[in-house]
Amino acid sequence: MVDSRFSQQELHAWQPILTPGWVIAIFTFIGLVFIPIGVASLFASEQVVEVPLRYDDQCLPSLYKDDAMTYIKGNRISKTCTKKLTVKSKMKAPIYVYYQLSNFYQNHRHYVKSRDHKQLRSKADENDVGKCFPEDYTANGYLPVVPCGLAAWSLFNDTYRFSNNNKDLVINKKNIAWKSDQKAKFGSDVYPKNFQTGSLIGGARLNESIPLSEQEDLIVWMRTAALPTFRKLYGKIEVDLEANDEITVVIENNYNTYQFGGTKSVILSTTTWIGGKNDFLGIAYILIGGLSLVYSLVFLLMYLMKPRPLGDPRYLTWNKNSKCLN
Ligand SMILES: *[C@@H]1O[C@H](CO)[C@@H](O)[C@H](O)[C@H]1NC(C)=O
Repeated sequence: MVDSRFSQQELHAWQPILTPGWVIAIFTFIGLVFIPIGVASLFASEQVVEVPLRYDDQCLPSLYKDDAMTYIKGNRISKTCTKKLTVKSKMKAPIYVYYQLSNFYQNHRHYVKSRDHKQLRSKADENDVGKCFPEDYTANGYLPVVPCGLAAWSLFNDTYRFSNNNKDLVINKKNIAWKSDQKAKFGSDVYPKNFQTGSLIGGARLNESIPLSEQEDLIVWMRTAALPTFRKLYGKIEVDLEANDEITVVIENNYNTYQFGGTKSVILSTTTWIGGKNDFLGIAYILIGGLSLVYSLVFLLMYLMKPRPLGDPRYLTWNKNSKCLN
């Protein structure tokens, strides 16, 4: 064996000793750092203005109250639905428009896998339909479906138009998808083909003259949500809205969530440095900071009331009823 510091076990080591001073100081420090961060996050979350509207129930005509399936599947029945939204307080641009679905399990194993990554990425792999069954080939000619699979097939197809005092609010639908998805996952030379041609229509159709890398609604949709209630970005409104503005929203209520008892909402929201509304982050910080302060106080009191000399082994064996063993 080489005679080195390593083999002789003489490497430098840090052997911290958790003295009361250190423990109390560290807990106090964590408390003093975390509580202000928590308060700032909660404050930022309070600044976010959110205007939600649940419409799956409100847009169901009273005639079809007990028969939503006839309504949603009826090709001749108008799905247009006009609602009003009141802006509670001033909203600064950009205002994000989200749709929110509930009871929709995009995280189901079969659903998540039902796509073909190679096919999405390059034209050369257009015929690759991997695990896309049953949305892999067209029923008649056995032509491959691009993009194949259930994830693409079930693309959300409700649309919204907003206006404020009879003036249209433009929704910018550019840059709503992740840049990395557009660059690395969806090819710029892959165009939709034979999509949504089966007898059962799953959702939105795609414009066949736009490559997948530019189909941002599809890219947003195919970044599957982890939880059954989720929001996805629909677009951005790039003008400010004032308090008490009455926004008219014209909804095309196409997407069938009635079948599985899911709800649909449209949400306008501003953001701050913590992102959208999120009280949890602030509460978690304040809770951890508060607990640390409590611990530091408890340790301080214990230390002041019953100090124990550091490194005195007698305290391990001593108790009230027996004599000291030494
Ligand atoms: C929208 O999707 C539903 C399925 O959820 C489908 O039945 C309907 O035909 C689609 N409508 C349009 C206009 O794409």
